[in-house]
Amino acid sequence: MKYFSSLVVLLLILNSCDTKKTKTFSNDEVSIVPKPSEMVIAEGSYKFTKETKISVANDAQKPAAKYLSDLFKTAIGDSITIVNTKEDNGVIFSEDESLTREAYTLEVTPKKIVIKASDAAGYFYGVQTLRQLLPPSIETENSEEQNWLVPSISIKDGPRFAWRGMHMDFSRHFFSMDEVKTFLDYMALYKLNTYHMHLTDDQGWRIEVKKYPLLTEKGAWRVESSHDKACKELAKTDPSFTIDERHYHDRDGKKMYGGFFTQDDIKDIIAYAAERQIEVIPEIDMPGHFKSAIDNYPYLSCTGEAGWGELFSTPACLGKETTYDFTKNILSEIVDLFPSEYIHIGGDEVNIQSWKECPLCQKAIKDNHLKDEHELQSFFNREIEDFLKSKGKRMMGWDEIVEGGISDKTSMMWWRNWAPDMLTKAANNGNDIVMTPCFEYYFDAQHEVTPFAKVYNYEPIPEGFNQDQSKYILGVQANLWSEMIPNFKRLQYMAFPRLLALAETAWTSKEDKDHEDFEKRMLRQYDRLDALDIQYHIPSVTGFKDKVAFLDKATIDLQAPLKGMDIYYTTDGSVPSRDSKKYSGPFEISETATLNTIAYRGEIASDERTALIEKQTYMEPVGITPKTGSIKRWAGEKQFSVVDEVTLPKNASFTPVETIDFSGYDGKEQVSMVFKGYFYAAEDGLYEFATTSDDGSLLYIGKKMVVDNGGNHSAMEKNGMVALKKGWHPLIVKFHEATGGGTLKGWYTAPNSEKQVLEGAVIGE
Ligand code: ACM
Ligand code: ZN
Repeated sequence: MKYFSSLVVLLLILNSCDTKKTKTFSNDEVSIVPKPSEMVIAEGSYKFTKETKISVANDAQKPAAKYLSDLFKTAIGDSITIVNTKEDNGVIFSEDESLTREAYTLEVTPKKIVIKASDAAGYFYGVQTLRQLLPPSIETENSEEQNWLVPSISIKDGPRFAWRGMHMDFSRHFFSMDEVKTFLDYMALYKLNTYHMHLTDDQGWRIEVKKYPLLTEKGAWRVESSHDKACKELAKTDPSFTIDERHYHDRDGKKMYGGFFTQDDIKDIIAYAAERQIEVIPEIDMPGHFKSAIDNYPYLSCTGEAGWGELFSTPACLGKETTYDFTKNILSEIVDLFPSEYIHIGGDEVNIQSWKECPLCQKAIKDNHLKDEHELQSFFNREIEDFLKSKGKRMMGWDEIVEGGISDKTSMMWWRNWAPDMLTKAANNGNDIVMTPCFEYYFDAQHEVTPFAKVYNYEPIPEGFNQDQSKYILGVQANLWSEMIPNFKRLQYMAFPRLLALAETAWTSKEDKDHEDFEKRMLRQYDRLDALDIQYHIPSVTGFKDKVAFLDKATIDLQAPLKGMDIYYTTDGSVPSRDSKKYSGPFEISETATLNTIAYRGEIASDERTALIEKQTYMEPVGITPKTGSIKRWAGEKQFSVVDEVTLPKNASFTPVETIDFSGYDGKEQVSMVFKGYFYAAEDGLYEFATTSDDGSLLYIGKKMVVDNGGNHSAMEKNGMVALKKGWHPLIVKFHEATGGGTLKGWYTAPNSEKQVLEGAVIGE
């Protein structure tokens, strides 16, 4: 008896020692993206060993259990045994019917890990969270890690949105099966569940259609597109733009770029995605973006020829029965192949000019009592919509499809930030909406233009939407148009780290999102991305303006883009590298210099950032006192193609406006503007100016260009500084809106003041 009790005591001590022996994790050491709804860290941790077993009780749990077991197989060469018996230690999957779709709970103690859910997706997401609680080396082959610890933790979690999507464009540049699967793995890690494959476009047809073999025999191959040319040009100085050689093949004695997925490939992709709880949505863009079909079946167009309009390719003729038969025959095969609820038919950016000139299209408009060519496209959409409905599918298209009216069963992807009316129109009509705004969720945009924080801070429920309208927002998706993404490494670089910001918006409730906390968690996520060998973007060094002005000397105080990164810089114009001067603290510059900076995280370099640090003398004011509160604006359409070319025509006529903006021209394209007036400096000092513009703008004080925000690009802020004497100074802003919705705003910051809009008493004409 005595002996027995001391054994119990000894066991108790051993047990408690065991708990103590395992590490207790701090909040800062745990990084889960997307952030779970509820999470409490407790004492101790669970350690995976060779003896750990995974126990499953039903079929819905098996894919998640296998995924976890396979992770260890890759990392240590040994999978973890999955058993069908009830265990009271190891990893235990257990059903909890009270949990909603995709939701899960995860309880980790030093003794066991319990994952509860009510469906396969919930179990799967429990495993993805567990994966992120394991050391990053779980992502690597032949890991040397010995201590597979998971913090003791209690998590309750579930998604905000049902549609958590990523898109890839296979037409402009193609990607291989392996790359598709690798990308699906990335999506799984961050609980994204919808993979939108843009399979056809003007530059290449990428899916086998048995009834129309020329689509891939010929339509999947090209000699060189304008995008290929542009990539090759850039690759001369930046190898990340190199076109993937594996997609060049010898065809009929010519070196051609291309490739396509066979229907068996597609089945393989769908199955691989399904194991990761991802649904694959195909997009067959019609009746525009259809050149790769028309090239090979020219009877599809109005004139019997393929071609280009001013911006977009010649679409299929909507006055010919053959177009309806052709598209429906294609969709028949697509419907049979893809189990998804939705089939995406594109419907964007159609050049309607050929329909205006085509007697058959005009006859179709008349016979069907349609108002115009837009209604003709709607007529076509409705035909396709009915056809898909007859096959048990729902139609989805880009937001243009809403313009001429659609039924409430169809859903819309909203991409045109400059067409907010489409949102209210769709919601009021009862159409489900996926938010893919071009300004925030187009990951083919440069990181400078669409930075990580802009992605994170975007709220997908449109401002002004009431509760009833909000329920039509299905979710969010980011797109990776591949015109300028010619290889998979470049695709990683464009997608990451923005994909994580999107994933958190997609999953985490609005209330639980917190940018600062996210940035903190990201620091550890980069370790995981490194382990996965993902090339991600790191922003550039900050702490200075794009153009810095000083009178006597400037103090340069640099900030690393991520904590712990080392900064290197040059001031002689040379390219910065690890061999340059290492930054160790603020330094002074007393002569004009070009500052070039770069930062390193291990082997991965940030973007370079450069600034002119200019010694200036005060600019003298002009001796006039203008009328305040307005500035003169000239606007002209279709005269220039980029702001850098904009000059005032002879006899330009000006209109007074209250501020520097694009008002009165919303939705117009190819518009140039020149603002001419004066800026008031209330005291001697260094003034900062800034513009945000889409497309480009240039701001001058006197003859000096202070803000260079030139070129054609989406909304981007640039700034610069100038030394001004008290008084009025000539102010000129040039602007050009090329395509895709215009934005313009101008700011100034006076010495020791806050940034303010250029309006009111500081401007005059
Ligand atoms: C699109 O970007 N044209 C949908
Ligand atoms: Zn026609």
